[in-house]
Amino acid sequence: MSQDDKKKRAAEAAIEYIEADMIVGVGTGSTVNHFIDALAGIKGKIDGAVSSSEASTARMKAHGIRVYDLNATGGLSVYVDGADESNQHLHLIKGGGGALTREKIVAGASEKFICICDDTKLVPYLGKFPLPIEVIPMARSFVARELAKHGGRPVWREGFITDNGNVILDVHDMEIMDPVALENELNKIPGIVTVGIFANRPADVLILGTDTGIKTIQ
Ligand code: 5RP
Repeated sequence: MSQDDKKKRAAEAAIEYIEADMIVGVGTGSTVNHFIDALAGIKGKIDGAVSSSEASTARMKAHGIRVYDLNATGGLSVYVDGADESNQHLHLIKGGGGALTREKIVAGASEKFICICDDTKLVPYLGKFPLPIEVIPMARSFVARELAKHGGRPVWREGFITDNGNVILDVHDMEIMDPVALENELNKIPGIVTVGIFANRPADVLILGTDTGIKTIQ
């Protein structure tokens, strides 16, 4: 089975967590695209969605799913999103698609974070996937030097601008032994908007698509 088929399996399994009249928090990426397509199948049952990116908004609107501004909601019950890596504690690396800031906001505003991935994303330690960090453009070089002091090798994602008008540094070779501590530490660097470690607010449920079915960790 292909990696994309496994993503689809995980995405379709997340539909079970969606209840009548919900406003659903929706992430970004190829796994979430499968979730949005599945959500379209039950769009008459839900109230609508809050989106974490312009790309997901466009896909949902094309399906006729109502998209709310987060400010117009009183918080969300469920957020569904993918990840680039997860450890056993459901600490994540996110931001491969560059939508990490809005993803972290919508995850933070949600009671339950359902993470959907293919099984290759479950790792013993985070950090093999280069850590995405969203940065205010004028701070790019300064932040890169600060990240190098933390042992990382930041690479500017050239030509990429986030939905918020910022840039991304992908930090290679970062040792992430304590994800909560590193997320807190990097959050102190001026100019960083969002660190792609989701550990202070980890996922609550991880649904992995595998060759044989679904594996759920919570
Ligand atoms: C986007 C993300 C995505 O969830 C992450 O990159 C996984 O993407 P995909 O589902 O395409 O493998 O964090 O910012």
